Amino acid sequence: MKVLLGVTGGIACYKSPEIVRRLADHGVEVQVVMTQSACEFIKPLVFQAVTGNPVHLDLLDEDAEAGMGHIELARWADVFLIAPATANTIARMTAGIADDLLSTICLATTAKQVIAPAMNSMMWHHPATSANLETLKSRGVEVLGPDEGSQACGETGVGRMLEPDDIVTAIVEGNNTTVAEPGLLAGVNVLITAGPTREDIDPVRFISNHSSGKMGFALAQAALEAGARVTLVAGPVRLPTPAKADRVDVISARDMHREVMQRAGDADIFISVAAVADYRVTEQADSKIKKSADDMVLTLTRNADILADVAALASRPMCVGFAAETENLETYARGKLQRKKLDMIIANLVGGTATGFNSDQNAVEVFWPEGGQSFSSRSKQSLSVDLISLIASRYQRQNTKDRS
Ligand code: PMT
Repeated sequence: MKVLLGVTGGIACYKSPEIVRRLADHGVEVQVVMTQSACEFIKPLVFQAVTGNPVHLDLLDEDAEAGMGHIELARWADVFLIAPATANTIARMTAGIADDLLSTICLATTAKQVIAPAMNSMMWHHPATSANLETLKSRGVEVLGPDEGSQACGETGVGRMLEPDDIVTAIVEGNNTTVAEPGLLAGVNVLITAGPTREDIDPVRFISNHSSGKMGFALAQAALEAGARVTLVAGPVRLPTPAKADRVDVISARDMHREVMQRAGDADIFISVAAVADYRVTEQADSKIKKSADDMVLTLTRNADILADVAALASRPMCVGFAAETENLETYARGKLQRKKLDMIIANLVGGTATGFNSDQNAVEVFWPEGGQSFSSRSKQSLSVDLISLIASRYQRQNTKDRS
């Protein structure tokens, strides 16, 4: 694999030479292009030393153009990774500005483009940055991170560039397997839930959570690629339906419970990715609740556990749950595996921005009664391919055992 690393002018570029070294450990060829402001933070010589190649700096450098010019560089790369990607670079990419070497390559390349943003947390949360990122994602640019924590400016929040190891894992694994092995689940019926549920308080308010549906939809896509027939019961999310999936849209946990129970008998595998509300409002108001006292008390009623109910069926599919935890991942996940009588549970840490809810990447620990496996951070698409392959192998083992 050939990676063109674009380095732009942010303090996080002190970590970029480490990205080069880690990529080289995986046998990846790397060339570096730097913006002028990146050169204010770190000398091109550092990158020349770690890549063994001259560093590309200028669009109008005759010597460079005579060797490997911007079009050759754009064609050479399999992946164009920009790390760090500053707010300014992201805005310029969105606008299609091409007034230096790096931005010109952004327009000229057909390589996969990946950015690892790094900026102050206020800049990250600015609506202009959010809108730019949405536009870039809709054009197929993959966004890695950012992470949260203490920042060079002294603030704490979201905006730190992901660690070099995480970036390199995402690049290497993202490039290896983005399509599930066809035939792995040929003829198998897979039922998947995805997204959040919404529990109405009154006609204008509801209780919900941050699930975007990305994890469940990516698993549906991977299961389809593996040859499965997929039914996707989705909470309120704005994601396109994977081609050939049979999609059923629902709003509340009770809707989801009803639609899943109607279909569970035909399913061979049930994967419960949805972040189902554990409680609903006991009495929904028919009209908008008016403000009166300073405090307002809502009484909540426990929703049925869809996954546990499917696992309790006399003739049940293989049941794969998810566990969203903020701590004690293995203990809590294994507890759910046992209590809900599951065949497998996929545990992820939630509460940050790099993995879990609404992120493009995820890292998970998978547990089944007699074993487990870890999957480091990578895109939800790439992770889903690996998870479907693991689920398929456990499913086949289980079926062979049942028959013998
Ligand atoms: O949608 P994304 O933004 O991509 O985010 C993905 C995710 C974080 C939502 C996903 O990876 C995830 O962790 N999903 C499970 C969320 C959850 O509700 O976890 P839990 O630990 O509270 O529930 C355990 C299991 O029971 C889950 O499989 C859940 O679907 C199921 N459950 C929970 C409550 C309920 N009433 N019925 C259920 O079926």
